[in-house]
Amino acid sequence: MAALAAAAVARPALAGDKKKDAAPAPATPAPAPAAGPFVLPALPYADTELAPVISQNTVGFHYGKHHQGYVNKLNDAVAGKDWASKSLTEVMKGTYGTDATAIYNNSAQVWNHTFYWSSMRKAGDQAPNGKLNDAIKSSFGDLAGLKKELSQAATSQFGSGWAWLVSDGGKLKVVKTPNADNPIVLGQGTPLLCIDVWEHAYYLDYQNRRVDYVTAWLDKLANWEFAAQNLG
Ligand code: FE2
Repeated sequence: MAALAAAAVARPALAGDKKKDAAPAPATPAPAPAAGPFVLPALPYADTELAPVISQNTVGFHYGKHHQGYVNKLNDAVAGKDWASKSLTEVMKGTYGTDATAIYNNSAQVWNHTFYWSSMRKAGDQAPNGKLNDAIKSSFGDLAGLKKELSQAATSQFGSGWAWLVSDGGKLKVVKTPNADNPIVLGQGTPLLCIDVWEHAYYLDYQNRRVDYVTAWLDKLANWEFAAQNLG
C-alpha cells in the first residue's frame, strides 16, 4: 500500500526533469486505488476460467465495474462516519432497515458479490459429497431436486436479486432475495451458495435467457466444496 500511496501522489514529470531518471510512462495510467477501508477481494480464479458458462467479458464488467463500483460507493458513503471502522458484516447488519440506504445497499452488494465469486469454481463437472450430500438428500431427495428448487427460485425472482442455498440449523433450504438483501440480514439461515440473477450477471452472454444461465451455472460452476465448508 505504501508504494501505491506514493505512486498516487507523485507529481507528473515536468519538461525540465532529467529524462534519464524518469520511468517510462504507461500507455494507460492505472486508476488510483479507491480511498477507504473496504477493498475489492481478489477473484479466486482467473477471469477466463468460468468460460464457457460465463465469459471473460462478463467477468470483466461484473467484477471490475459492478463489484468495484459497490466498493467505491461504500467507501464514499462511510467516509467520516463510525461505519468506516466496522467490519463489512457489521456495517451490512447494522444499517439494514435504517435510513442509511446507500451504506446498506453497497455493503450488502459487496458482501453478496464476494460470496458469489466463491460460490463458483473453474467450469467443469463436480458433485457434492460427504455431509453436504447427505444433507441434500435429506432436504431435497437428491441433487436434481436441489437444482430444480434453486432454478425455480433464480428464475422466478422478479427483477434484480439473488437465489441462495442456506442451512437453517442443519436443514437445507432455498430462498430468494430482492436487490441487495441476503439471508444474513433477513435471518433466513447460513448461506452456503448464491446465484446472482441481476441482469448484469448474465445479459452479455445469455441476453434474456436467465434460465439457461442458471442451468449452466448449476451444472458446471456450482462450488460444492465451498458449500460444504459453509455447512461446517
Ligand atoms: Fe452482480
